[in-house]
Amino acid sequence: MRSLVLLLSLLLTAAPFGLLGEETRQVSLKVISDWLDPSQNLLHIQAVGATSTLHYVWSGLGPPAVLLVATNTPNSTLSVNWSLLISSEPDGALMVLPKESIQFSSALVFTRLFEFDSTNTSDAAAKPPGKSYPPYSLADFSWDNITDSLDPASLSATFRGHPIHDPTGAFASGSLAFRVQAFSRSGRPAQPPRLLHTADTCQLEVDLVGVSPRGNRSLFGLEVATLGHGPDCPSVREQRSIDDEYAPAVFQLDQLLWGSLPSGFMQWRPVAFSQKQGGRESAMPCQASPLYRTLAYLLPQSPIVRAFFGSQNNFCAFNLTFGASTGPGYWDQHYLSWSMLLGVGTPPVDALSSLVLGIVAVALGAPALMLLAGGVFLLLGRKWYSEYQPIN
Ligand SMILES: *[C@@H]1O[C@H](CO)[C@@H](O)[C@H](O)[C@H]1NC(C)=O
Ligand SMILES: *[C@@H]1O[C@H](CO)[C@@H](O)[C@H](O)[C@H]1NC(C)=O
Ligand SMILES: *[C@@H]1O[C@H](CO)[C@@H](O)[C@H](O)[C@H]1NC(C)=O
Ligand SMILES: *[C@@H]1O[C@H](CO)[C@@H](O)[C@H](O)[C@H]1NC(C)=O
Ligand SMILES: *[C@@H]1O[C@H](CO)[C@@H](O)[C@H](O)[C@H]1NC(C)=O
Ligand SMILES: *[C@@H]1O[C@H](CO)[C@@H](O)[C@H](O)[C@H]1NC(C)=O
Repeated sequence: MRSLVLLLSLLLTAAPFGLLGEETRQVSLKVISDWLDPSQNLLHIQAVGATSTLHYVWSGLGPPAVLLVATNTPNSTLSVNWSLLISSEPDGALMVLPKESIQFSSALVFTRLFEFDSTNTSDAAAKPPGKSYPPYSLADFSWDNITDSLDPASLSATFRGHPIHDPTGAFASGSLAFRVQAFSRSGRPAQPPRLLHTADTCQLEVDLVGVSPRGNRSLFGLEVATLGHGPDCPSVREQRSIDDEYAPAVFQLDQLLWGSLPSGFMQWRPVAFSQKQGGRESAMPCQASPLYRTLAYLLPQSPIVRAFFGSQNNFCAFNLTFGASTGPGYWDQHYLSWSMLLGVGTPPVDALSSLVLGIVAVALGAPALMLLAGGVFLLLGRKWYSEYQPIN
């Protein structure tokens, strides 16, 4: 009985839980350019709260990468030494000051875009999902002027790029885009998978659009590298829910956690879309491989990671693969879109939708009422009995 009451009260508190984490921050998004060569630039997102500042530094120098740094003061600043940053040994070119205010720091680097031929692969879970074409190294991409895409109103900007050398012309009328968006309060976007964001997070949407595939049934994959903390790689956790209110037929939320909380996290739903209108018909599975330790020299190097962390050898990497040989695919419309959240602190959790709460309440409510009635009956019955006892 007590556990039932507990369960019911848990369910009742589950509804407003998502709102409790709401914290607003002063969020600014700006491009920091090299005075001498304005084509070199960084995108700096600064989210200032009452007692902390989060810094996200995105860059298209080398492979697309982001640094995330959390400090315990509203007054921390980012300092950039450009001449050092674009040199061959950029160690120390990026700093967040004061150094002792840093509570957490890590980085993500998007190193390579893979393309697989899934023609002869009937097993959807096969790894790799077919024969791999030569990958595109994202270090060898050139990115459009980020300032042109900067939108201070929606706190977003897009790194849109194509290979510097494109002998087959695959990217002649297409691009790979990394759309970055920050938020000053919590909410969720209109497009699935509608991840719940907070002011502590920033969203990345990766779009591959209009690029000519090399086969009729090409699947794409993205290699992601990160820094491990100590000897271990970050852990990936799968969270299941009984609710798919925001992402049709997706009951899972994947999370990469750098350490024990509060730490950094990357959060995504294992779904990508093959059409702009992300819906059930265009949903493709997104599979994540386990994280492996890898040597820095095997990966395209990111100057900003080297600039902030110095020479490191604790890189970990994993692959994300989008789609399966059956079902919707990139081949439908030459369109692929996947998104994730990056943040520091406790990852946002979806509250149960009112529909599911209703169903659960009805399902639990009927037996609970019967139990309750039974309990009252028993109590009354015992009382009745005890009142009668002295007479007997
Ligand atoms: C990028 O675009 C901005 C605004 O459109 C412009 O002022 C700047 O000169 C451009 N930078 C380069 C390197 O072309
Ligand atoms: C941050 O800077 C402001 C203005 O310079 C100052 O009033 C405040 O005390 C500083 N806060 C901290 C935590 O250093
Ligand atoms: C930037 O780095 C260079 C090379 O280490 C150094 O000579 C220069 O003084 C630095 N500039 C600043 C503003 O710290
Ligand atoms: C797929 O299988 C067929 C028949 O086994 C074979 O002829 C064809 O070359 C294979 N295609 C690829 C891309 O492996
Ligand atoms: C792709 O499909 C077309 C038409 O169905 C076919 O002619 C062509 O050989 C296929 N290409 C490959 C690489 O399988
Ligand atoms: C990602 O997949 C490619 C192609 O199968 C493979 O060469 C590479 O080693 C994988 N990377 C990781 C980190 O698993």
